[in-house]
Amino acid sequence: MSIKLSVVSQDPLRTASDVIVIGVPEGATTKEGILAKLEEALGPVVSAAVKREDFKGKKDQTLDLQRGDAGASRVLLIGLGKATVTDVEVRLLAAKGARFALGAKAESLTIALPEGVAHAARAAAEGAVLGSYRFTKFLTGDRIPKTSLAQVTLTTTGRVSKADRDGAALGQKVGESVCIARDLINTPPNELYPEKLAKAAEDVAKANGLECKIFDKAQLTKRGMKLILAVGQGSARDPRLVHLTYKPAKPAKKKLVFVGKGLTFDSGGLCIKPAQGMEEMKGDMGGAANVVALMAAVAATKPAVEVHGIIGSAENMPDGNAYRPGDVFGSLDGKTVEIINTDAEGRLVLADCLAYARALEPDLILDNATLTGACVVALGPTVSGYFANREELAEQFRKAAKAAGESTWQLPLVEELREGLKSDWADIKHTADRWGGSITAALFLREFVGDRPWIHVDIAGPSLANKPYGIYPKGGTGHGVLTFLRLIEELS
Ligand code: BES
Ligand code: MN
Ligand code: ZN
Repeated sequence: MSIKLSVVSQDPLRTASDVIVIGVPEGATTKEGILAKLEEALGPVVSAAVKREDFKGKKDQTLDLQRGDAGASRVLLIGLGKATVTDVEVRLLAAKGARFALGAKAESLTIALPEGVAHAARAAAEGAVLGSYRFTKFLTGDRIPKTSLAQVTLTTTGRVSKADRDGAALGQKVGESVCIARDLINTPPNELYPEKLAKAAEDVAKANGLECKIFDKAQLTKRGMKLILAVGQGSARDPRLVHLTYKPAKPAKKKLVFVGKGLTFDSGGLCIKPAQGMEEMKGDMGGAANVVALMAAVAATKPAVEVHGIIGSAENMPDGNAYRPGDVFGSLDGKTVEIINTDAEGRLVLADCLAYARALEPDLILDNATLTGACVVALGPTVSGYFANREELAEQFRKAAKAAGESTWQLPLVEELREGLKSDWADIKHTADRWGGSITAALFLREFVGDRPWIHVDIAGPSLANKPYGIYPKGGTGHGVLTFLRLIEELS
């Protein structure tokens, strides 16, 4: 159920919400400013609590004030730190507030918008939706939550403008779009296989007025997408390729293509993975989920550019029909590929998707994928790694991620490592040795984009979280969607 969200010009403490969230800049004291106002409204409990908890408004510091007076509401103070507050901090504040509200079983939440921050209403709405996310579809009986956050009120001291109201509505849609990715990632692989992922993408397209084409096994065969078929041939569930299209009202000057890896489960195939942690490979479609989410968000933000979403989906299983190390397959691009390790399946699926994307003659191809464990080793579980075949593009992506508040780090396309992909038996092999595993994966992908402007984002770490942090819940995060959306806004 969708949250009822409103923006009002009111003192947050005068709203009747179960939880009221207020950001406090670092260095605030009860002598002046926001804490003094709180003391005036709530009484000496404020200075007592501030003193007891040594609350200074430092970044991430929180103070939970149980209201002693008439209202049953709790007031949560969240430290904003010293840095100037931007929409990124507002989104984070709202997400933390919403997560707290969820824990407190609150049904209504008020968030005080910090003053003078551009796009604060949109950011707060995004944060409220992202922070109150949970996935309960497979819970029964008393595991089903009895309460849900139904109402969020954003308060401002100034007048409420149309831009505030529109921003909040848009922010809610964007937040809900990111949650589509989370839902898809969290859905178990027995429920979400390629056909179902394609169906989910089609449903999103229908609900948002996007075009949607789905290629099933017969069509993949006809078109010569031999690498997607190879990865999927060991599974009882056939692979799919999905192509979603958003076209702006006026003819667009630019065409952007977003590609996502959609392995609904990655057992490793014949080169089977260790049992420990294999269940996490239900999330190996995080890139595809992001693309579906992004397309839903794009339908709401309506950029002036054409946006295409391509997802390549398969299930990687060991079986009598499974593809093997030593096999050689053709590809949509035409190159032949020697299979070395069946667990390096993502790059094969992506290769056919990239060749398909390239044929659209776009101004940018961006692929995102839970591609390599090596990327998690390099950057840790919260940061994605990105590669680009043009420095200007890398810079644009870096800026977009920063503006979106997502963590990413550029990795190099090291030319010396290309040699490792040379094959004696085919045009190319798909893996090299262990060292620089994320880089050789990227170098393999590069073979399929020609000279098109291209960015590759390895989200193996941040696509899934083992505990909540920032705007992300435990499980599927949708990490990347906000960055891609920002990049589109910047390029249009
Ligand atoms: N889906 C995995 C990568 C992955 C690992 C994602 C951990 C999320 C968390 C990918 O298909 C894979 O198995 N990659 C191999 C490549 C290797 C065989 C060259 C890897 O990273 O070990
Ligand atoms: Mn794999
Ligand atoms: Zn994989």
